[in-house]
Amino acid sequence: MYEWARALHIISVIFWMAGLLYLPRLYVYHWNAKLGGELDETLKLQERRLLKVIMTPAMLAALGFGLWLIYLRQDALSGSGWLHLKLFLVFLLFGYHGFLSKTRKQFEAGDRPRSEKFFRMINEIPALFTIAIVILAVIEPF
Ligand code: HEM
Repeated sequence: MYEWARALHIISVIFWMAGLLYLPRLYVYHWNAKLGGELDETLKLQERRLLKVIMTPAMLAALGFGLWLIYLRQDALSGSGWLHLKLFLVFLLFGYHGFLSKTRKQFEAGDRPRSEKFFRMINEIPALFTIAIVILAVIEPF
């Protein structure tokens, strides 16, 4: 059961991270799209589907299976410093997900929030977090 929970946890994490990496890229293209034009409407649809059909369900699944793993191994995991730091980083990723969701609504309303350069820069954030979180989860350094 533990191995199934771990496999399903990692699968849902991969889908969530893929969405966190891809959505800001769509915002880079959307920033220059003509209001009401064909590209504007296409990107609104893609962003809505990516967030609602893939990212949010994958985030909730990663959380669900992660909490299940904590329940299955609570004795071994209690007091694990790596898990506390990992969950803090994951908490920040929830915040990042929420920010991307709020930004989607702004583009849907016809706004052009922040700048094209801003979305190019924040695109790297989930990659850095993924490196740190996977090292913590696999190496369990402390
Ligand atoms: C959403 C909240 C999350 C919770 C509650 C959570 C919790 C856990 C727990 C308890 C384990 C099992 C640890 C063990 O038994 O040694 C685990 C494994 C793992 N987690 Fe998470 N995690 C979460 C999110 C993430 C994220 C966002 C990533 C990657 C970006 C991630 C990557 C991993 C990996 C790669 C493993 C397998 C480590 C191994 O078995 O060697 N987790 N997670």
